[in-house]
Amino acid sequence: MDRKLYHVLGAKQFDRAELERLFAASREMEDVVAAGGDRRLAGRIMTTLFFEASTRTRLSFESAMHRLGGSVIGTENAAQFSSAIKGETLEDTIRIISGYSDVIVMRHTEIGSAKRAAAVTGVPVINAGDGAGEHPTQALLDAYTINKEFGRIDGLKIAMVGDLAYGRTVHSLSYMLANYQDVMIYYIAPENVQIPANVKRYMDGKGIRYQETHDLNAVAGSVDVVYQTRIQKERFPSLEEYEKASGKYIIDGELLSRMRKEAIVLHPLPRAGEIAEEVDADPRAAYFRQAHNGLYIRMALIAKCLGVAD
Ligand code: CP
Repeated sequence: MDRKLYHVLGAKQFDRAELERLFAASREMEDVVAAGGDRRLAGRIMTTLFFEASTRTRLSFESAMHRLGGSVIGTENAAQFSSAIKGETLEDTIRIISGYSDVIVMRHTEIGSAKRAAAVTGVPVINAGDGAGEHPTQALLDAYTINKEFGRIDGLKIAMVGDLAYGRTVHSLSYMLANYQDVMIYYIAPENVQIPANVKRYMDGKGIRYQETHDLNAVAGSVDVVYQTRIQKERFPSLEEYEKASGKYIIDGELLSRMRKEAIVLHPLPRAGEIAEEVDADPRAAYFRQAHNGLYIRMALIAKCLGVAD
């Protein structure tokens, strides 16, 4: 059967029907994991090619492949330990890896790198983060978590906090939330890392309500989700710019006391001080549950990419 290649390059590619299918498949994967995994991907190989550091994304993808009976090859530090360091182009690296594996999961420093990779290969490419661009599989697990915690996404109020300029997770999550009815987004960021104009244009085009503000305290009591993010020191052009943005928004016991009892705190993680550890014991702290959901979503996604799911 001639099957169209299923790359995962950005969050805009997912419509609501596709998200609902993936969420249903992810729920089934929770049972598969509870039963000890299965062998549906036996004989299949995944390459994980990471030019930037990762704990959750790389290891949950690798775990997902193993849970479904597949194998993994890869490099966790492709910038140093692949032939990129000898000057090999990304395109050539991808052409070579395509002969060794059935699916490529790639994290790279440059916006648009996953699209470049997909253009030269006959195997599915999954974007595991392209610089300050997008992180679509994080948005999938974020949306899955929100849906699981509330039983819906429609009608929710979501505050996205922190580094909204370089934060690829908030770009992808915004695009994904645009599939839902009556959501309201509060973008809360220091002056030099506001949500980019291209994201706002997309949300405007989809008729999604949003408000930009600097005042987290003012909205904390009315939102369903506080989506906190790290101020990413490594992405700033200078230490001075980083210092202008850092330390402005901390989720601590005091902030939590302003939030609704049914609200949740999410964070793509890692955190670097922007959620105090005292928050962890509160049932509204959903960020570790969120990270664990990444396994199920990624199992469902790999199965889809490799043609063993709907
Ligand atoms: N959320 C996320 O992408 O985490 P890692 O950088 O650890 O993969």
